[in-house]
Amino acid sequence: MNLILESAQWAPSACNQQLWQFIIIKDNDLKIRLTTEAGASKLILKAPIAIAVCYHSGNIKEGIQSASAAIENMLLVATSLGIGSLYLNSFGKEIKVKQILNIPDELFIVAFILLGYPEKQLPPPKRRALEEIVHQNYFSKYSKETFSHDANKWTLSSVRDFQERYCRKTDLGTRMDIVNEMEIKLIQNILSREKYDNILDIFSYDGSLLNNYPDMKIFSLNLGSETSLFTTYAVNRKIEPLIYDDFIPLKDKSISNAICVFKLERIPPQAYDKLFSEIKRVLEDDGRFIIVFRSRNSLYGLIHRLIKIKFDDDIRKSGIYSFFGPYSPLKSADIISSLKQADFSSVSQERFFVIPPLIDDFYQLFLHYFTSGGGAFYHREKRKSIVGNLIHKIIRLQKEYNTKFGSVIVLTAKK
Ligand SMILES: Cc1cc2nc3c(=O)[nH]c(=O)nc-3n(C[C@H](O)[C@H](O)[C@H](O)COP(=O)(O)O)c2cc1C
Repeated sequence: MNLILESAQWAPSACNQQLWQFIIIKDNDLKIRLTTEAGASKLILKAPIAIAVCYHSGNIKEGIQSASAAIENMLLVATSLGIGSLYLNSFGKEIKVKQILNIPDELFIVAFILLGYPEKQLPPPKRRALEEIVHQNYFSKYSKETFSHDANKWTLSSVRDFQERYCRKTDLGTRMDIVNEMEIKLIQNILSREKYDNILDIFSYDGSLLNNYPDMKIFSLNLGSETSLFTTYAVNRKIEPLIYDDFIPLKDKSISNAICVFKLERIPPQAYDKLFSEIKRVLEDDGRFIIVFRSRNSLYGLIHRLIKIKFDDDIRKSGIYSFFGPYSPLKSADIISSLKQADFSSVSQERFFVIPPLIDDFYQLFLHYFTSGGGAFYHREKRKSIVGNLIHKIIRLQKEYNTKFGSVIVLTAKK
């Protein structure tokens, strides 16, 4: 620890002011208070040591610049000593953290650092190529990123690149998608209607759904190698990973059921034609292609529009979908027409849940969003609240039947 702290001491600071302060937190009760009262990331409970890095707030820009130099020094020294480290922004609501740790008013928290011996070593995440980020003398060309919810504004390769980078922000195989338990039950019921030899899951990514599929051979299609690796870690059974590059690496008529669950919303519509015709090619003659998506013309569509009004059309601001790239509910007429274009012989439609079950999960996200002062979103661990309980109960009153105004649409296309 001394070596790590000394490396911070030797970092450059604006005007050599060295106005940083480091609080070493080892006490478990304190860490629990930070997570429950300030909404800090639960990762701090996993690390034996957390360091809150503070700087004088007289000049915020200089504070961030100087403290970041100190932080990077500490991360490098920790790594050289075989100690795992994490630069953590999700330390929770700053006012609350300052209160809990007795941090004086004139300081602000730049970040936390977590330290501990790693349980496992992972290959380093890919880096952007130097040509993409370095300019000579003048700013030259630059491929502007989009962060829109609307998949129309992306290309398949920009979604691929985004996912390949973003999935390495966390531990491989962590469940990231927000899918309600009622939606999962629906998918299980759909898949149990008929017997299949195998299943091709279209764009599995965080792989969380695959554990709910019936016991059969699963081919898992992804857009890239990092996302494919992520899926492999997420699934507690053997799967056959495949990568899609305008081509599904499978023989003609080798699949009895292809399924795409809440993933078409993330794919640019200009990629549908090629994707659907590839799916048709690999399906057996009596094979089926099932698409499950959330409808734009439903209460869910309205909620999605409200989210965009509150957080702008920027996936990073709502924090809900940013892991996967774009996400926008779809119009079933558009999908049906693309399926017909790809020559699927018949398409049937069912709609479920007038009240979108996802409201339950969104409420949990908002609770955490407010506790953490807008710093983090987390929904998997339910916070107890009377309103939350009520929402949960109302949603669960809904039965799983086909209804005109349902928010979740299931299309079944026959070859
Ligand atoms: C300013 C900053 C804030 C970060 N905040 C978080 C965080 O809140 N939670 C987290 O899990 N990782 C956080 N990270 C870690 C990044 O996800 C990580 O550096 C990135 O995925 C690259 O991985 P690598 O550092 O192992 O090369 C943060 C990193 C930086 C630089």
